[in-house]
Amino acid sequence: MGKVVAISNQKGGVGKTTTSVNLASSLIELGKRVCLVDIDYQANATTNLGVNRSNLKYSSADIFMTQAAVKDVIVHIPHLSMDVIPAKFDLSNVEEALIADDNKNFILSNALESVKDEYDYVIIDCPPSLGLITTNALIAADSVLIPVQCEFLAMDGLTQLLNTIRYIQNKKQYSAKKLVIEGVLLTMLDTRSNIGYEIISEIKTYFREKVFKTIIPRNVKVAVSSSYGLPVTEFSPRSKGSVSYKNLAKELVENNEQI
Ligand SMILES: Nc1ncnc2c1ncn2[C@@H]1O[C@H](COP(=O)(O)OP(=O)(O)OP(=O)(O)O)[C@@H](O)[C@H]1O
Ligand SMILES: [Mg+2]
Repeated sequence: MGKVVAISNQKGGVGKTTTSVNLASSLIELGKRVCLVDIDYQANATTNLGVNRSNLKYSSADIFMTQAAVKDVIVHIPHLSMDVIPAKFDLSNVEEALIADDNKNFILSNALESVKDEYDYVIIDCPPSLGLITTNALIAADSVLIPVQCEFLAMDGLTQLLNTIRYIQNKKQYSAKKLVIEGVLLTMLDTRSNIGYEIISEIKTYFREKVFKTIIPRNVKVAVSSSYGLPVTEFSPRSKGSVSYKNLAKELVENNEQI
């Protein structure tokens, strides 16, 4: 059965999209069937995967606004063997359009139900906010992966995110689906400065065994790869960034598929 993992942190620029794209591509390398869902109006994951937004008939906004069939929204990227539900900027209208809809928090969950078993992992790249779209993602998700940048103020806003997760866990407690914390991922570590290591120690003290052993270093190839419309795992497979995302995928699979 497909596992839905939301990549979420309402703090901007912490590596959510980079993690979504590279975790998805690394899981595919491990032989997993993966669908990446872009529900950020910035559409960065869609762009970073080289999908041309102007050619798209449908996007993730149609799932929310026009009840388009999910199968029609999915785009297959042959050279990555990846399925993607792409985003366009029209997602920014969703919150306002759905304000009076009683079912507004469950739209993504209901939509993904029809396709999730065709995949081993469905990865959702969330926007940097805790609004309706993120709530939809967390309700649709089995687990949440929280990227935290190894920089000053890393913990900022995490309490709010944890409160939201707890709220959704309570809401879900009588349903078949639970929401667990998949793990906290330390990203963009600058190995030359002390501050990153101080943050690691602070995060580990707080989250303990919930912190992934894999730490993602700051690596220029990671940033450059997205401008070529490729995951770093494809653009520069042997770079430090690529190797660390492949390790993350292995760690996640081991955590989930222990016999
Ligand atoms: N390991 C890394 N090394 C170098 N640059 C990185 C790394 N991870 C991410 N970046 C760069 O940092 C910036 C922010 O990353 P990203 O877009 O993944 O964050 P985000 O959390 O998705 O942002 P937003 O909140 O705006 O959606 C991007 O320019 C990305 O290329
Ligand atoms: Mg992003």
